[in-house]
Amino acid sequence: MKLIIGLGNPEDKYKSTRHNIGFEYLDYLTKKYSLDFKQEKKFQALCCEISESTQKKIFNKSIGEGIILVKPLTYMNLSGSCVQKFCSFYKIKPENILVIHDELSLDFKTVKFSFGKSAAGNNGVADIISKLGNKDFSRIRIGIGPNPQGDERANYVLSKFKKEEIESLTNIFSDCDYVLNQWLNDPLDKIQSPSKDQKLNSNVKLKKKMKYKLKKGLTLWLTGLSGSGKSTIANALIGKLSKNNQDFPLEMLDGDEIREHLNKGLGFERKDRITNIQRIAFLAGKISKHNVLVIVPVIAPYKEARELARTYSKNFLEVFIKASLEKVEERDVKGLYQKARAGEIKNFTGISDPYDVPENPDLTLNTEETNINDSVEKLLNKLIELGYVENLSE
Ligand code: ADX
Repeated sequence: MKLIIGLGNPEDKYKSTRHNIGFEYLDYLTKKYSLDFKQEKKFQALCCEISESTQKKIFNKSIGEGIILVKPLTYMNLSGSCVQKFCSFYKIKPENILVIHDELSLDFKTVKFSFGKSAAGNNGVADIISKLGNKDFSRIRIGIGPNPQGDERANYVLSKFKKEEIESLTNIFSDCDYVLNQWLNDPLDKIQSPSKDQKLNSNVKLKKKMKYKLKKGLTLWLTGLSGSGKSTIANALIGKLSKNNQDFPLEMLDGDEIREHLNKGLGFERKDRITNIQRIAFLAGKISKHNVLVIVPVIAPYKEARELARTYSKNFLEVFIKASLEKVEERDVKGLYQKARAGEIKNFTGISDPYDVPENPDLTLNTEETNINDSVEKLLNKLIELGYVENLSE
């Protein structure tokens, strides 16, 4: 079930006020499709459910689940209580919520889509974030600014639209339809700004298309305990750099994979681990020389071997993927810690073999405190800051 909430205040005196633009948009939608709102006391809201069969009738297709349009009757500042009731009744996840509201910081005739952003002064949104306990939902923010007389914010947002502004609303709402349609039909990370030949009336701002360019090759060495998140971060970074058809030259030399092929037969005794690291570092140096970002997620537990690894590449960055032994044992993704504790695996890093914590890494990413997305963001910012990567985002 997808939940679309327009924000506003319920009494008649608030009709056609700037603050009620969320309600106005939903009214426009129901009118356009000849649908009706029904009052639902248990949700303290006016609701309009668009079942899959109704979707087929009005849009000629269905999104594969129901949609509910909601106008909370709680008053703007308590909109979160109503949203919370819907979420617990229908088991709706935040990513299936779209909130439509006025935005004073955007000029009139501007429509902006955002996801996971803070309330930025909108009390209705602030209440939803507080009641849901997270902000991972989408929003269509409809510009009502600037405040021409510099009146008090509350007076201005609660004032009625002028006649000529009312005349523009249909055009603005039809641009909101464009955004709504994308939100309903595309995965969140595919929502993109309209192309130049798309005929829209307003300034429609969707997500930026992120694009990056590699400026010089380097070896990006991710060291950390087994299960610390090295490969996960490496894969997420690759996902980000390869999105939007970017031609970004990169290669990953993953510990597990290399041990299956190039280093087949090597074990986990000190001598073998050093050989493993030395060969990987040698290969990374050879490849990164040709303007390639070579990502190396390996445990590389010994300081001595990591220092040796650095000597093979002209550009080398050591990133410590930090997570405590307790945490990685708790995660135990591959079930190896349990085996190591039971003595079934010998020389296991952290249990029966040492891990020398990097003393001076170029960057530390603590995966216990930071989620993967934010870690990748930090890593990418570091690469940009050091001049290895350029941000070409549109
Ligand atoms: S390294 O020490 O030589 O750098 P590498 O990163 O290539 O290790 O390989 C580590 C992976 O091998 C771990 O993620 C784990 O899946 C597996 N593995 C098997 N035995 C061991 C062991 N004794 N110690 C650590 N990892 C092991």
